[in-house]
Amino acid sequence: MSKVIIVGAGGVGGVVTHKCAQLPEVFTDIILASRNEEKCKAIAAQLPRAIRTAQVDADNVAQMTALLEAEKPDLVINVALPYQDLPIMDACLAAGIDYLDTANYEPPEEAKFEYSWQWAYQDKFKNANIMALLGSGFDPGVTNVYTAYIKKHYLDEIHELDIIDCNAGDHGQPFATNFNPEINIREVTAKGRFWENGQWVETDPLSVKDSYDFPEGIGPKDIYLMYHEELESITKHFPEIKRARFWMTFSQNYLKHLEVLQNVGMTGIEPVVYEGKEIIPLQFLKAVLPDPSSLGPLTKGRTCIGCVAKGIKDGKEKIVYIYNICDHEKCYEEVQSQAISYTTGVPAMIGAKMILEGKWKASGVWNMEQFDPDPFMNDLNQYGLPWQVVELDATGLTD
Ligand SMILES: NC(=O)c1ccc[n+]([C@@H]2O[C@H](COP(=O)([O-])OP(=O)(O)OC[C@H]3O[C@@H](n4cnc5c(N)ncnc54)[C@H](OP(=O)(O)O)[C@@H]3O)[C@@H](O)[C@H]2O)c1
Repeated sequence: MSKVIIVGAGGVGGVVTHKCAQLPEVFTDIILASRNEEKCKAIAAQLPRAIRTAQVDADNVAQMTALLEAEKPDLVINVALPYQDLPIMDACLAAGIDYLDTANYEPPEEAKFEYSWQWAYQDKFKNANIMALLGSGFDPGVTNVYTAYIKKHYLDEIHELDIIDCNAGDHGQPFATNFNPEINIREVTAKGRFWENGQWVETDPLSVKDSYDFPEGIGPKDIYLMYHEELESITKHFPEIKRARFWMTFSQNYLKHLEVLQNVGMTGIEPVVYEGKEIIPLQFLKAVLPDPSSLGPLTKGRTCIGCVAKGIKDGKEKIVYIYNICDHEKCYEEVQSQAISYTTGVPAMIGAKMILEGKWKASGVWNMEQFDPDPFMNDLNQYGLPWQVVELDATGLTD
C-alpha cells in the first residue's frame, strides 16, 4: 500500500503518471496535482485505472503543506519546474513526507542552477527522518546511476567521464523545445563548464563542439559542451574523476533559431515594459512556442543518452560506454508522449519505486549515484529504458 502525490501535469508529469498507474501493486493510490487541475484531469482520462487529481500552487508552501497533511502520501514526486523544488521541500518537511525530483533548484530571477540550495536541507531532512532523492530523471538521474554502475562493475577508478545526450528525433516544427521552453533555453544559453583536475573550466555558450558516432545506426552527429547539474554531484561523489564533461546534440536549424532569438532579446529574463505592463521576454516566448506535450504525435526518430567512462581495471586502461536508445513513436504509442518526457518520467517512477520498496531508503538528502545502482538498472530494463554496455578501444571523442 503506498500513496504518491505527483506535482506537475506537464510532459514529464504525464509520463510519470502513466508509468505509476501501470504498477498498481507499488503505487496503490495516485494523486496528480498541478496549478491547473484541468491538465491533471486530461492526463487522468488517458489512464486505464482511476486516479485522483487536485489543484495546488506549489510555490505556496502553506497550500502545498495543507494538501500533504490532508492526504498523507508516502512520497511527493515533484515534476513541476525547478523553481518549485525548495517550496515543495519545505512543505515535505512541514508534513513529514519523503520527496523526489528530476531537476535541481533554480531561482527564477537568475539563470543559475546548483545543488547548494538543496544540499543545505541535509540536516533538516535527517532530523525529520525523511528523505529527498534529487535528480531522478535521465540526465541527471540515469546518467548518475550509469556512472555508479560502471564504478561498481567495470572500473576500479574512473578517470574521465563524458555524458553524451543525443536527440536524433525530428518533430517537423520550425523551432520547438522538447521540454519546458523556459528551462531549456535558460540551460542552453548559459555558459558551458566542465571539471578538470579539481576545478571547473568555463567556456562560452555552445563554443566547444565535437562529433560523435552514435551506435545502432544513429550515426555521427555534432555535439556541444554544456554545463549540466549531474557533473557537480558526480565529481563530488567520485573524487578520483580527473575530467568530467557533458555534451548535447543540436541541429543547425535549432541553433540558427536560437541565435536569432537571442540576438533580438527574446531569450532575456529581465523584465521589459510593454504597453505599461512588465513582461519577461523568455516567458512570452514560451507562450508562443509549441507546448512540448503537443510534440508527442509529431516526433519521429530516436534518442541515445549514455556515459563514456575511461579508467583503470586491474591496473589496465579500459573504456566503457553504457547507453539507452529510445524511440519517440514507441513512447507515444505507450504513454502519449515523446521520448524526452518518457526518458525523464520512467526514471522518476523507478526512483519512487526504489524508495517505496525500501531498496533506496535513508533519511537525508541524496543524489542518485549514492545508492546501489543494481536494482535501479534492473528496473530500467524492465520498465521501458533498456541499456547496453560496450567496451571501446577509444572514447570516440577528439581528445
Ligand atoms: N532530469 C532530466 O532528465 C529532465 C529532463 C527534462 C525535464 N526535466 C525536468 O522535469 C520537470 C518538468 O518538465 P516538463 O517538460 O514536464 O515541464 P512542463 O511541461 O512545463 O510541465 C511543468 C508542469 O508544472 C506545473 N507547474 C508550474 N508551476 C507550478 C506551480 N507553482 N504549482 C503547481 N504546478 C506548477 C505546470 O503547470 P501549468 O500547466 O499551469 O504551467 C506544468 O503542468 C522540469 O523541472 C524539468 O527541468 C528533467
